Amino acid sequence: MSTSGSSSLSETCSLDSAYWRTVHIHGREFQDYSVERVIYPVPIDEDEADRLNRQHAVFRRLFDNRLIFPPIEDPKRILDCGYGSAAWAIEAAEKYPEAEVIGVDISPHLKPVETPGNLWCQVDDLNEPFNFKPGEFDFVHSRLVAPGINRSRWPSYLRDCFSVLKSGGWLQMVEIYFNVQSDNGTLTENHGLRRWSKTYLEIFENDKDLRVPTRMQSLMETAGFTQVQNRMIPLPLNGWSRNERDRAIGNLNSDNAKHMINSMALWPFTERGEISLESFYVMIARARTEIDDLNLRPYFPLYVAIGKKP
Ligand SMILES: C[S@@+](CC[C@H](N)C(=O)[O-])C[C@H]1O[C@@H](n2cnc3c(N)ncnc32)[C@H](O)[C@@H]1O
Repeated sequence: MSTSGSSSLSETCSLDSAYWRTVHIHGREFQDYSVERVIYPVPIDEDEADRLNRQHAVFRRLFDNRLIFPPIEDPKRILDCGYGSAAWAIEAAEKYPEAEVIGVDISPHLKPVETPGNLWCQVDDLNEPFNFKPGEFDFVHSRLVAPGINRSRWPSYLRDCFSVLKSGGWLQMVEIYFNVQSDNGTLTENHGLRRWSKTYLEIFENDKDLRVPTRMQSLMETAGFTQVQNRMIPLPLNGWSRNERDRAIGNLNSDNAKHMINSMALWPFTERGEISLESFYVMIARARTEIDDLNLRPYFPLYVAIGKKP
């Protein structure tokens, strides 16, 4: 594991250059290491960092500014799996200045240069066994990493999360099930959004388990967690809701959703699937128009799961 440390340069170890190397594909910048190994082939450029920050703002609104859902008073050590732009990890480090926050991600590119001194970011593949000692953490956070976790890895990923927690510590997982839904059933198989979902799920069928959000309860229980809860929350793609709060969340999420369907699918659809770049852009343009259509009432099922190590 390589460490790209806190804000202090003197504490920063140099990272293996293999992790830094990038490759341009269809006008976006990707991490070469991740694309070569099909770990998480999603851009690592400024656009994606901005998108993740905007997406974090959506979650803040959705979760009423709560970072940690289980009853934890004073966490000393926090692990953030797949920290991305470090938006969540930075806020956790600021909210708990006495805590050490450790972030792990395959890509070091998206986090800002300046981060709090109690946040440590490391480069590692979550598909590999964790390098942390058993019982090191009070809290493990894992948000939106499913497209980067190998299908066969899930049981051991949950066991690793369990192992690194102290007794009494909690795991919190948040995942989108990318199977777009319509609150009034008006989305059909011919809609661009539905075709996006179908293609995205099919392309990764053999190596990633994108239906895992619906199974997090049993995965957590099998790993030994107790007091497990897995709740589905509709994440609106536009402001279709009559409820004021949900409408505001949908309005906030619409821009993120338009960028997300592009950045997450660009490599899989054009490099792995048999979709030309031109057809890809046509599909994205159509799906974006549908994201603007309040009548379709589109949403992604978002799953939020917590479990305690006894
Ligand atoms: C959609 S972003 C989410 C970032 C952050 N968790 C958040 O919610 O804002 C997914 C992040 O997980 C990382 N990731 C995906 N699969 C990974 C893996 N196998 N090992 C390490 N990091 C991974 C990606 O590099 C990316 O930064």
